[in-house]
Amino acid sequence: MTHSKAIGIYRHGGPEVLELIELKLPAPAPHEVRVRHTAIGLNYSDINVRKGGFYLGGGPSFPVVLGNEAAGVVESVGSKVTDFQPGDRVGYAGVGGMFFDNTGAYAERRNVPSSHLVKLPEWITDQQAAAMLLKGLTASVIVNRCFMPQRGDPVLIHAAASGVGNILAQWYKHLGAVVIGTVGSPEKALLAARRGCDHTILYREEDFVPAVRRIVPEGVAAVLDGVGKDTFLPSFDCMRPFATMVNYGNASGPVDPVNVMMLAQKGCFGLFRPGFGWHAATPATLRSACDELFGLVKSGALDIAIAATFPLERTADAHRLAESGKLAGSVLLLP
Ligand SMILES: NC(=O)c1ccc[n+]([C@@H]2O[C@H](COP(=O)([O-])OP(=O)(O)OC[C@H]3O[C@@H](n4cnc5c(N)ncnc54)[C@H](OP(=O)(O)O)[C@@H]3O)[C@@H](O)[C@H]2O)c1
Repeated sequence: MTHSKAIGIYRHGGPEVLELIELKLPAPAPHEVRVRHTAIGLNYSDINVRKGGFYLGGGPSFPVVLGNEAAGVVESVGSKVTDFQPGDRVGYAGVGGMFFDNTGAYAERRNVPSSHLVKLPEWITDQQAAAMLLKGLTASVIVNRCFMPQRGDPVLIHAAASGVGNILAQWYKHLGAVVIGTVGSPEKALLAARRGCDHTILYREEDFVPAVRRIVPEGVAAVLDGVGKDTFLPSFDCMRPFATMVNYGNASGPVDPVNVMMLAQKGCFGLFRPGFGWHAATPATLRSACDELFGLVKSGALDIAIAATFPLERTADAHRLAESGKLAGSVLLLP
């Protein structure tokens, strides 16, 4: 039995409920790998888990150690693991189940099913991996399964300087789309323009619907929306017929229920609500999606923005900053 420091919660609430706790970690089970984390990705979903409110039929059993994403070094492997060995540099985004199940990345060490681990190539640093795996796999599902653009297709990306939005903007630009990004501040507009956006709209200062129509009078071919409540419904008014709406997140709050007839009335739209876990269906799909992501970083098409790093003990401060919406890029916790 090994001990590991971790950040957990004994109840839902604000950042103040995050506590440093000591975990007892058993030896890895036959198909598990013990990973010593070197960088942990903070995701907006961690804030949602901390707050609670979405568990169906009863809450979790406390303490809950938060976190779905980390990178590190293999310390030991279970008796049936053949594809990893001590010393391998690895990363993961989720270990199966929904984002609020099977959490536990906010820890110095963790046993992870080998099926959910990927080896890191030498050109990816541990911090880059922890900053990009979950957000990058989300973008990958959106690009590869929801909306693949034709060259010149106009796309609207909400919160284009956010962790996922920033990767989407660069990826769609790389594929030849004309990228319009909404952003919350002039500083974010500069970052979004440097990373893929052809046009930026300060959507807290002006109504983004007429602003998009001025740029693309016929409407955009797709909307990629991680903001949710504030942006989802108005976005339908800047889409062309048969366009695709992808809602992947709700940073401003959950989307109101949708009447499917509205999709027909507004323009025969398609609607997706994807999740990053799709790629983890098998080790082969996960590893090929990660290979594509790592290749995009190597080629320079994707630049991963790390907005801030915090020692693991200061996770509450990291949550406060991430929740403020002021950041542009990923936040990392360093054990
Ligand atoms: N489906 C999936 O598998 C999946 C995977 C990853 C993330 N997500 C979800 O996608 C969303 C974005 O994730 P992310 O990692 O890109 O987040 P992030 O980097 O923390 O950025 C969120 C951004 O949303 C904007 N925003 C708009 N209204 C906000 C509000 N009321 N409070 C805070 N921020 C607000 C802000 O940008 P502006 O200032 O530019 O408005 C903020 O920077 C989250 O809801 C997350 O849970 C889903």
